[in-house]
Amino acid sequence: MLRTLQDKILKLKQEKDIAILAHSYQSPDILEIADCKGDSYFLSVAAKDIAAKTVIMCGVRFMAETVKMLSPEKTVILPVENAACPMAEQITPERVLQFKEEHPDYKVVAYVNTTASLKAVCDVCVTSSSALKIVGKIKEKNILFIPDKNLGSYVKQNLPDKNILLWDGYCPVHNSVSEEDCLAAKKAHPNAKVLMHPELPAEVLRHADLVGSTADILSYARSSEEDCVIGTETSIVDTLKLEKPDCNYYLLSKRLICPDMRITTLADVYHAMLGKGGAVIELDEDIRLKAKRTIDEMIRLGEA
Ligand code: 13P
Ligand code: SF4
Repeated sequence: MLRTLQDKILKLKQEKDIAILAHSYQSPDILEIADCKGDSYFLSVAAKDIAAKTVIMCGVRFMAETVKMLSPEKTVILPVENAACPMAEQITPERVLQFKEEHPDYKVVAYVNTTASLKAVCDVCVTSSSALKIVGKIKEKNILFIPDKNLGSYVKQNLPDKNILLWDGYCPVHNSVSEEDCLAAKKAHPNAKVLMHPELPAEVLRHADLVGSTADILSYARSSEEDCVIGTETSIVDTLKLEKPDCNYYLLSKRLICPDMRITTLADVYHAMLGKGGAVIELDEDIRLKAKRTIDEMIRLGEA
């Protein structure tokens, strides 16, 4: 049944000139039929060079908005209309503009997990894998980092020469992990490497063997024969267990489940391809151009 649906999707991709992009948190059956899969940075860069007329973005809304920003001529579809990262709107564009007026000597750095309207009033975007490199390359010393206080504090700790102010936003999924959860997982699996996403709180991150994006975590685990405790969304554990059944992968906390990332099914992808579901992403042209600047700047600094 599953295979049949995957086959139908693969056939439709050819017939209708559709490319499928999927974030690494998507389920293995979606990842299998994707043309591009990876973390937020990889997908942002890949979006620039896709030739297909239509792109189905399996992930959350800000990711589909990024594809539309970079490729306005394409039809970009989010298969489930309400798949949205709750962190993306934890500060308003008006509040950012007010801050900039009061602090003209600050650069505003936006985590890519933000809406297009928010990106449009910021100076540069970062992703979890590119944040250290990009903030390190910004000439100005004074920085406001929005909205994720956990990623922001990780950057601040690693770049002590910068003066970084943090907004009080967070990912409700990663931020729900406590130090007790972490100590319990380490006690239960004392020989496993502990790999963590920087959206986790600082008191948890200090117990990590590696802090990195979903791509960094996957790449470490794929190239190692060690058992690993995975400190990010549970889908990464599912992917690794399928790829390397001889290693053991444990989830850092049972709370690491993102409902918005897990809502999309293969059937949703199929229906979106048929034009029978999902949301076609539209962006106001002024917002698109202003928001695109921050992604272009991220890619320029990230690749320099
Ligand atoms: P990545 O930058 O690792 O892809 O993370 C995106 C995300 O939403 C993590 O929760
Ligand atoms: Fe947003 Fe957190 Fe889900 Fe990532 S895991 S999409 S940051 S809510």
